[in-house]
Amino acid sequence: MVTKMLVRHLIVLLCGSICFGNLDGTYIAPLIDDTQRAPLVALLNTSDISHNILKSFGNQLNEKVNNSVNEKLGDIHRRIQKVEDNCKTTETDRSSGSGNRKDCSDLPKDSRSGIYRIKPDHAEEFDVYCEMTVDHGGWTVIQRRESGDLDFYQGWTKYKTGFGQLNREFWLGNDKIHTLTSQGRYELLIGLADIDNNQAYAKYQHFYIGNETSKYKINVYGYSGSAGDNLNYHNGMPFTTFDRDNDKDRGNCAKIVNGAWWFKDCFESHLNGHYFIRTPSKAWRGIIWKDWKGPNHSLRATEMMIRRL
Ligand SMILES: *[C@@H]1O[C@H](CO)[C@@H](O)[C@H](O)[C@H]1NC(C)=O
Ligand SMILES: *[C@@H]1O[C@H](CO)[C@@H](O)[C@H](O)[C@H]1NC(C)=O
Ligand SMILES: *[C@@H]1O[C@H](CO)[C@@H](O)[C@H](O)[C@H]1NC(C)=O
Ligand SMILES: *[C@@H]1O[C@H](CO)[C@@H](O)[C@H](O)[C@H]1NC(C)=O
Repeated sequence: MVTKMLVRHLIVLLCGSICFGNLDGTYIAPLIDDTQRAPLVALLNTSDISHNILKSFGNQLNEKVNNSVNEKLGDIHRRIQKVEDNCKTTETDRSSGSGNRKDCSDLPKDSRSGIYRIKPDHAEEFDVYCEMTVDHGGWTVIQRRESGDLDFYQGWTKYKTGFGQLNREFWLGNDKIHTLTSQGRYELLIGLADIDNNQAYAKYQHFYIGNETSKYKINVYGYSGSAGDNLNYHNGMPFTTFDRDNDKDRGNCAKIVNGAWWFKDCFESHLNGHYFIRTPSKAWRGIIWKDWKGPNHSLRATEMMIRRL
């Protein structure tokens, strides 16, 4: 279906630039059959043009078609990406409103993972990504790293309101995380993956972050998991960004490592660091969970999610 649509696009695009060009009835081009998915070629009718003229014209045409095809292929790849992105989000349930969901734990257990609208207590509706397969589902995702496409070295306001795309990389926003964790008792699950796709997790029975007045102070305890407890060190710390220094270091930890976190002096974990695909010498500025891979080993993917108990 998608392919068919794209082929149709291609025809329109190609024809726009070639079919209705300088046609004088001596050739037919291009022949693209939508229904038979014919290859993208231009066919010349050779019968009443001299061989030489044809040859030169043919080369010109081939080149034109070739250029056009190459250019349009780029277009089509972008279109495919768009369609895929749309599919990802239309799988979900935004049209039907928040359905009185306070968060993802109010979704039916057999719901698919995806983007859903929620309406927390004392707050406007907003969209969140619900993770419905991991650990019995019902998780509201608050952070994701997976590609390095998004710059996480952002200031206070960006971290306050959130940034990125929910089906890709993002930070949900400290105001929203505060709103969510204020409406009940929440647990936190952190999933980590390294470059070889080894995985580990850290789970906390209790997670809460304060409002902006408290500088989004973190309250976290009750560790279990395979990654090691590298949040305990940060418990009770306010949030620090490059433009708001609330840490215990003489400098600004966010500036030192190009990130943002509940820094102390400075960190045992830091999942908003610079995205390094290969481990370079400055990986301590990367995405770090110290007790799992060490202080200089940047991770490939992370997901932080919360669930109401
Ligand atoms: C090519 O042109 C000739 C003469 O104009 C015409 O008779 C013939 O049908 C054309 N061939 C095709 C494949 O259209
Ligand atoms: C068409 O494009 C391909 C890939 O860009 C190139 O390798 C090929 O030589 C081109 N053909 C013509 C006839 O220009
Ligand atoms: C933030 O929380 C504190 C303590 O719970 C409360 O006193 C204060 O009014 C809150 N500030 C805002 C802006 O909601
Ligand atoms: C990590 O990197 C820092 C800075 O390059 C270095 O001083 C430290 O020894 C490294 N630690 C480990 C465990 O490799």
